[in-house]
Amino acid sequence: MKMRDLQQGELLYEGKAKKVFAVRGDAEHLWLHFKDDLTAFNAQKRGSFQNKGAINRDIASMIFRFLERAEVTSHFVADLGESDMICEKLEMIPLEVVVRNRVAGSFAKKFDLPEGGHIPGGIVEFYYKNDALQDPFVSDDQALYLKAAKDQRELETLKRIAINVNRELVDFFLAIRVDLIDFKIEFGRNADGDVVLGDEITPDSCRLWDRDSKERLDKDRFRRDLGGVSEAYHEILKRMREVHGARAMGGGVK
Ligand code: ADP
Ligand code: TMP
Ligand code: ASP
Repeated sequence: MKMRDLQQGELLYEGKAKKVFAVRGDAEHLWLHFKDDLTAFNAQKRGSFQNKGAINRDIASMIFRFLERAEVTSHFVADLGESDMICEKLEMIPLEVVVRNRVAGSFAKKFDLPEGGHIPGGIVEFYYKNDALQDPFVSDDQALYLKAAKDQRELETLKRIAINVNRELVDFFLAIRVDLIDFKIEFGRNADGDVVLGDEITPDSCRLWDRDSKERLDKDRFRRDLGGVSEAYHEILKRMREVHGARAMGGGVK
């Protein structure tokens, strides 16, 4: 596809962190715009910082490129401008798939455990993506009852890809002296019916702790009023560019 000829179509959806546009005359792709907005607790808490959209777009596209080389297929097609991305249009699977390597966040709260404990091998959890219900945790059987996934085989596919993504990303972040504590990903079905990775992987959707200082370099800084939110996102992108930049950049259309 010729990126330079692309024209933004109608706004199809505005979410908490992104706007989703059609691509004019092209039903197979979407135009994602990453916003500067930041929300937490199902948008009860709102904020923003300058260039957040551009930073998250850059982080997401570098990660998708990295995963592509590790044979994890995603919806990513190309960067566009500073804060936009062209992606394959997917039929989204309404599950938030969370992988945890360490005890933190809702898992720490639910089981009254201190944050930071290792979870060997990592665990996968499904949450039903529904803002009105505040994205409740669901078992495999509940996800199937809700028709969020086609069948048990599809759920197993989500788990398998999620574990693969985790294995790749743990090493990716270790290389920038960051521990990947946990993260959330979303999947969809492409035109061939294959399950592929969609949405974004950014400090909005991951917990990232500095290996040495244990400082949080992710959206928890905003959720917990720790300050230095913008600095943390900048730091992650800076380290990614230093270490992974040469391999991961390129292909963007400005
Ligand atoms: P939310 O909907 O949770 O507020 P965003 O602001 O990030 O989240 O909005 C982006 C929306 O686009 C999400 O609902 C996400 O599921 C959806 N989405 C992401 N990637 C794709 C894709 N490739 N095809 C269709 N929808 C997508
Ligand atoms: P949790 O500990 O709050 O359940 O979050 C687990 C991971 O999922 C964490 O990295 C943050 C991410 N996440 C999202 O991306 N979106 C959400 O709506 C929630 C609740 C968590
Ligand atoms: N994604 C949710 C929100 O934006 C919750 C969170 O990330 O804490 O409100």
